[in-house]
Amino acid sequence: MVFTKETAALYKAELRKLNRKVAAEGSVLLKNEGGLLPFNVGARLAVFGRTQTFYYKSGTGSGGLVHIDKEPIILTSLRDCKELSIDEKLAAVYEEWVNRNPFDNGNGGWASEPWCQAEMPLSEDVVSCAAEKNDAALVIIGRTAGEDKDNSAEKGSYYLTDTEEEMLRKVTTHFQRVAVVLNIGNIIDMSFLDRYSINSLLIVWQGGEEGADALCDILSGKAAPSGRLTDTVAFDLSDYPSQVEPIENDEIFYDEDIFVGYRYFETFSPERVRFPFGYGLTYTEFKTECEATATDSEITVTARVTNMGAREGREVVEVYFEAPNGLLGTPKRQLAAYKKTGVIKSGESEIITLSFKTEQMAAFDDTGISGHPFCYVLEAGKYRVFAGANVKETKEVANFEILQTRVVAKCDSVMPLKKELKRLVSSEKSGKRVAEYQTVYPSALDLDKRITENLPKNDEYTGDKGIILRDVYEQRHSMPEFLAQLSDEDLFAIVCGEGMDSPKATRGTVGAFGGLTENLRHFGIPVCSVSDGPSGLRLDTGAKATLVPNGTLIASMFDDELAERLFGLLGREIASYKVDGLLGPGMNIHRNILCGRNFEYFSEDPYLSGKTAAAISRGLSLYGIFATAKHFCCNNWERRRQYTDSIVSERALREIYLKGFEIAVKEGKNLSVMTSYNLINGFHAASNYDLNTTVLRKEWGFDGMVMTDWWAKSNSDGKAGDKNNLRAMIRAQNDIYMVCGDTLKQPHNLREGLAEGSLTRAELVRSASNILSLVMTTGAFARYLTTGVLSNDIAYDKEKLCCIASLSDNIKKMPISADFEADGFCILSFSIKSNADSLAQNSVFCSVDDLQSSFSVNGEQGETVVIDREMYLTGSHHTIAVYLPACLELVEIKIYLKP
Ligand code: BGC
Repeated sequence: MVFTKETAALYKAELRKLNRKVAAEGSVLLKNEGGLLPFNVGARLAVFGRTQTFYYKSGTGSGGLVHIDKEPIILTSLRDCKELSIDEKLAAVYEEWVNRNPFDNGNGGWASEPWCQAEMPLSEDVVSCAAEKNDAALVIIGRTAGEDKDNSAEKGSYYLTDTEEEMLRKVTTHFQRVAVVLNIGNIIDMSFLDRYSINSLLIVWQGGEEGADALCDILSGKAAPSGRLTDTVAFDLSDYPSQVEPIENDEIFYDEDIFVGYRYFETFSPERVRFPFGYGLTYTEFKTECEATATDSEITVTARVTNMGAREGREVVEVYFEAPNGLLGTPKRQLAAYKKTGVIKSGESEIITLSFKTEQMAAFDDTGISGHPFCYVLEAGKYRVFAGANVKETKEVANFEILQTRVVAKCDSVMPLKKELKRLVSSEKSGKRVAEYQTVYPSALDLDKRITENLPKNDEYTGDKGIILRDVYEQRHSMPEFLAQLSDEDLFAIVCGEGMDSPKATRGTVGAFGGLTENLRHFGIPVCSVSDGPSGLRLDTGAKATLVPNGTLIASMFDDELAERLFGLLGREIASYKVDGLLGPGMNIHRNILCGRNFEYFSEDPYLSGKTAAAISRGLSLYGIFATAKHFCCNNWERRRQYTDSIVSERALREIYLKGFEIAVKEGKNLSVMTSYNLINGFHAASNYDLNTTVLRKEWGFDGMVMTDWWAKSNSDGKAGDKNNLRAMIRAQNDIYMVCGDTLKQPHNLREGLAEGSLTRAELVRSASNILSLVMTTGAFARYLTTGVLSNDIAYDKEKLCCIASLSDNIKKMPISADFEADGFCILSFSIKSNADSLAQNSVFCSVDDLQSSFSVNGEQGETVVIDREMYLTGSHHTIAVYLPACLELVEIKIYLKP
């Protein structure tokens, strides 16, 4: 596909339009008394809350680093919205206050941006004056959190600040009509609804670069919100079942087991739900009439949805099941299917059909209590199927009896506990369900035996036979024949990715893999690139790309088809930048309502998460982009994520934490997988054999590439994690380490592993085969086939270049004036001391004369890193400015002339 300036503009316009539509469709309307929303045409609005002067388009961390054309600002969008008018006097008060109290980005450092911005105190006068002149009040409250920055049970994070409370108190005292908009990434406390009289409550999540315009579309009625909650909103933080803090000894006990989110609430605590899972209103009302048929293998629900209101709209039909609460004990409700109607006009109907397999209702027996250890079983008893608008508002549409317990699948026992776990179970006492705690004990699985019995055999070494990767692609030679030519050293190189911003790949990307050494390129392997992700393309050069809404909003649409379309168009943009893979979707379960990364992830429900991820990957694959399902698995809490051990039962793993990934692998397309930093039952994800081999490959049939998270650790049984333990990583079949500065210089223990027999060449060959099978599907390979070019821009040897300036004095004061003669492409080499923590990714912006660039510096805990940027400079007088967060220190800038 050829991208020209003209097509790029057309594509951008198309993507922008769909992006805006998605941002509106995934917004969730929780309350709308008296139909306050949408506001009447011409309504005069008094807008409160300083969030109006900006817009949280994303959460923070790697997922929020897409450079966009224009920052969304709510006030600007409201001013552009012809259907509504805002109180400019009040807006001016806010703007003037914000000028004096500017946005606090925490000095631009990694994970340092606060959860919210200081709110402007309001006087009674200002509010009462505004109430006299306006038809309604619109209050906007914003929150952020992100990577390495969990939310907290504090005012300003989960709770409202005192100033926000005061704002709501005053506004609701003086105004009759009040709408509150939450621009948030995580669920926050909503008890303010009990204290103040609020007509409408709308969550717009963090809707990407079109989010502010989309909000105005909703407020003015040009679009209708039709999103549904992907998490339960409880009355109180303490109502949620999962442990928050403290985490002792870096151990997180998943003691609520399978009872995550609504599975817990509907089973044990239904009265503590403020807004149920799957809940959301729109601007009209629907009547849904369902019928169901159940065969031995499939349940089909047919729903006739009629629009009973005056406006057109879309409705979601959700289907849940209840399995018998037998020996295994099951949740009262589990999502089995969902579908969204098209736009239905007032008075009209649409018929939709939803179906799911009976097997989907099986529970996993990890103790053998059903008589079938490590099997998915359909226990004998009554199965009931419900359909409706959310988990609470459903009607029973079918029920049937399974007379004899049936085994649906027999599995290997995987990832056994290494510690006792007291887990929540649903027992039955005198015909009533009760919550009890059951102890599950560690089991003695001989993992080494499993590994050695399943070792691959292909370890042939033939030396160079002149076969190139193209010969494999064009089926002149087999992959094993090709790989037999690679030396052990070549294999070591192929399992080490490079980044951030490898000069061999598309510039500004966070990871490169494939033909990173001359030797590998000799065999016709191109350099491929990946970048964050998940909501658009991050290019650390500062190049602009499109930011789509966060993961939670995408899942809130309950609309796989629209998610697929959006990521189809996004994939086209990514392809135009010659990037091969997106580091997303992020799809961990919202186990803990405060996890900082929930904004990137989808839901507390694995079925919805898996379906959404599969749709995204199918969309990206349309233009050859591969998706990366991350973080596999159990990254449900950010703090100390490199050290924490998720202690979780096999049942909860299979029914909750792995389930979404399983659906994504089986129903998605062009998927790679990124393992998480944390340990799962004693093994870091990257070195977790059962995770990456027994479950992912053997059970699910995955044949793609698995990469580590950036600078992740691996460990061998019982030992501490180590970034250089690539032996344990390869043994587990996590194929590639991400990332090192230079593949050939990466310290590792692969050589020793081969020498001492704790690693075989065949295991390295197996991972190389997984990597190269993916390489052959990429845009980089397609370009190589047509142009013969293997690498974007081979790294230069600075020692051979002429150094035309070296600036180390006075570089603390910016900008610097420097005199040196330049004419042509120069390499600017920035030496920067990084005091940040090891996983930090700090953004640095630099400008030289009229040229701008940016790059990211990861945490080096006191070490100095050298980052090179290429720029075209002319003349003898130059102005250089570098803007960097406080945890970084600029030591020197050297400028080299490229020949
Ligand atoms: C994050 C990943 C991300 C990677 C590259 C890590 O810190 O956990 O999600 O893709 O960095 O930026």
